[in-house]
Amino acid sequence: MSMPVLEMSKPGGRHGRADGSKRAGAGGRRRDRRAAGLPAPLIPPSPHTPVLAAEVVELLDPRPGQVVVDCTFGWGGHTRLLAERLGEDGTLVAIDRDPLSEQRFHELSGELPCHMRFIRCAYDEALGQLEDEGLQADAVLFDLGTSSMQLDTRERGFSYSYDAPLDMRMDPGSEPSARTLLAEIDERRLAGILREYGEERYAPAIARAIVRRREVAPLRSTQELVETICQAIPAPARFAAGHPAKRSFQAIRIAVNDELGQLDRALPLAWGLLRSGGVLAAIAFHSLEDRRVKRFLAERARGCICPPDLPVCACGREAEAALLSRRAIAPSAQEIAANPRASSAHLRAARKLRSGDPR
Ligand SMILES: C[S@@+](CC[C@H](N)C(=O)[O-])C[C@H]1O[C@@H](n2cnc3c(N)ncnc32)[C@H](O)[C@@H]1O
Repeated sequence: MSMPVLEMSKPGGRHGRADGSKRAGAGGRRRDRRAAGLPAPLIPPSPHTPVLAAEVVELLDPRPGQVVVDCTFGWGGHTRLLAERLGEDGTLVAIDRDPLSEQRFHELSGELPCHMRFIRCAYDEALGQLEDEGLQADAVLFDLGTSSMQLDTRERGFSYSYDAPLDMRMDPGSEPSARTLLAEIDERRLAGILREYGEERYAPAIARAIVRRREVAPLRSTQELVETICQAIPAPARFAAGHPAKRSFQAIRIAVNDELGQLDRALPLAWGLLRSGGVLAAIAFHSLEDRRVKRFLAERARGCICPPDLPVCACGREAEAALLSRRAIAPSAQEIAANPRASSAHLRAARKLRSGDPR
């Protein structure tokens, strides 16, 4: 499949921090922020506020002349902060499957000092292309899930809060849409998706209600889906834990966009692109994503796997990564107050070890 690829060189531009703000004081809910030596977050105003922005910049620590790959460009909040540090000789490769992100890239790239390139397709495919080209990166970032721009664009159908066509595709040219998925999927498989990706207690009842409703007429709008979900949930439980359709919408969105499959395929590709000394960082908003990132990085950070009673190592296995914080880094209470969508974020990062690095 061919991919639209934009490439342009930047003969100069702005340098320094994007928002010019000072670092705010520490405090609030956080895990391992202090242990990782990280500052309080920077929160620049934008249609999508980049989550854990200061922490990402600190961990990836981009330097002039380096190559950074942002696998989830979105509105370009993280890209901007990273690219501003790369100078005229650096390169930032931005990936996103959303055409609106491509438009945003055109606006933003002229303001940034480094070589800027955009690849519009799923990140597993884009990373495969970069591998074929022999690109080597100093830093790779994943900021998973949907952008505020996607959630707040009513007609994209991501939100249970607005009536809109049932779509939920990050790439409107991909298949299936939520409408197609819900029209075709087998009831048991749908219940599995709702339970696994949405942790929805009433998954079987909701799946049954969706299948019954589509026997009368296909579900076309988010409002029809919300109604069907609400009717399937017992009245006392309907408003027990947030909006009753929240978990199902999340699950259907994850399935429509194959978000977990994408991540499973992309992590090894991203790791493969990194030079020795390079850093991979990922922000996850869902426990299933975070678990995948955690396991992937932990596996690379694991050295000898010989039984503990063996006097000398027989496996010869050496760690190829150093974790940059023992636990996931979470946003501070201050960041969550300013941007409630940051509340479930978990940032993990690891450095690829050079031969001879202490293990
Ligand atoms: C949370 S937003 C990123 C926001 C961005 N870091 C910023 O500061 O503006 C996630 C973005 O990743 C994109 N995305 C998610 N999964 C993707 C995939 N598998 N391939 C390409 N893009 C993806 C979405 O379209 C969305 O724009």
